[in-house]
Amino acid sequence: MKMATNSTLIGEQGYDRAHQVKQFDDSKLGVKGLVDSGLSSIPRIFIHPPETLHQLQPTTRPIPTIDLSDRRSALVDRISAACRKFGFFRITNHGIPPAVLDRTIAAVKAFHEQPAEVRAQFYGREMTNGVSYFSNLDLYTSRAASWSDTLQMRLAPIFPDDVPEICREEIAAWNKEIQRLGEELLGLVSQGLGLPSEKLKGLTCLEGRAMVGNYYPPCPQPDLTTGLTSHSDPGVLTVLLEDHVGGLDLEVKHGGAWVDVEPVPGALVINVGDLLQIMSNEEYKSVDHRVLANPHHEPRVSIAVFLNPSNREGVFGPLPELVSPEKPALYKEFKFSEFMMRFFTKGLDGKSLVNYYKLQ
Ligand code: OGA
Ligand code: NI
Repeated sequence: MKMATNSTLIGEQGYDRAHQVKQFDDSKLGVKGLVDSGLSSIPRIFIHPPETLHQLQPTTRPIPTIDLSDRRSALVDRISAACRKFGFFRITNHGIPPAVLDRTIAAVKAFHEQPAEVRAQFYGREMTNGVSYFSNLDLYTSRAASWSDTLQMRLAPIFPDDVPEICREEIAAWNKEIQRLGEELLGLVSQGLGLPSEKLKGLTCLEGRAMVGNYYPPCPQPDLTTGLTSHSDPGVLTVLLEDHVGGLDLEVKHGGAWVDVEPVPGALVINVGDLLQIMSNEEYKSVDHRVLANPHHEPRVSIAVFLNPSNREGVFGPLPELVSPEKPALYKEFKFSEFMMRFFTKGLDGKSLVNYYKLQ
């Protein structure tokens, strides 16, 4: 059975892709290692079929920017509108000092730029101690790999002991900031659904935080690959911090087009995840987004914190308050642990996670 699958792959793509993927993974050096070796063209496993790279017309219509120091009632309305129409928005005046943003980015960057032999010791896909470091979450399931590496960890309910020394203090500080900001955002997002501000927090949606520190090395052939394949985030809300290198790298799907998310110094980007789309009975939208391969000379660093429920064995689905005879439940119920298992086994592409739970 296995043999047949392998030879089908050789037949289909003209080379032993599975073998080359494994070799790349076994090097434990990630895309950063490839770039350090000085290559001028990208290995074949990273080359995407052209039709999957540029399916949509790009536009420059901006995502909404929301000033968190605005009056509460105006703020709730704006956030509610942004979650309904875009699923993505930028926040300013969020109370986290610029120096903290810079320190957090610098620490994650420093992790990815440690000497090869130090990095390799951390490399692995298992999250056994709450931390992992790898290139491409979906390396073994996607048809083509992306030009980025990731440091992934759990932040809460338990902050792991094994967070690498080089970034531990900074990430612990970031976790505290996101706990405060996340609580504020969950309150606003709950109120935007006409629910009490404590609703989502009461369902443990602040307490299961996880983080990815993404590193996008400069790509010698950015038109042939991606930085991160199109996907939607599985959890409730995502808080994204990006450095100044971004340019137009991050794109969000909106109205049939890819909308550029330009980095604004000091701002953070917030997006709705699949679980919030389901809990809100589709009042809020979790939208696909992707990162282009880095065409700049400097690496780009981004840090996403995913707010997830800590109650993994709890049953989730459309909130009863948002279900009525006029608006019946659009999704079936599930355990959060089962939902995440499905996310990690399905591969990144597309909206298959929410569609799986959708009622006809
Ligand atoms: C993610 C993500 C965007 C970025 O990690 O889920 O969408 O700009 N990252 O790195
Ligand atoms: Ni994402």
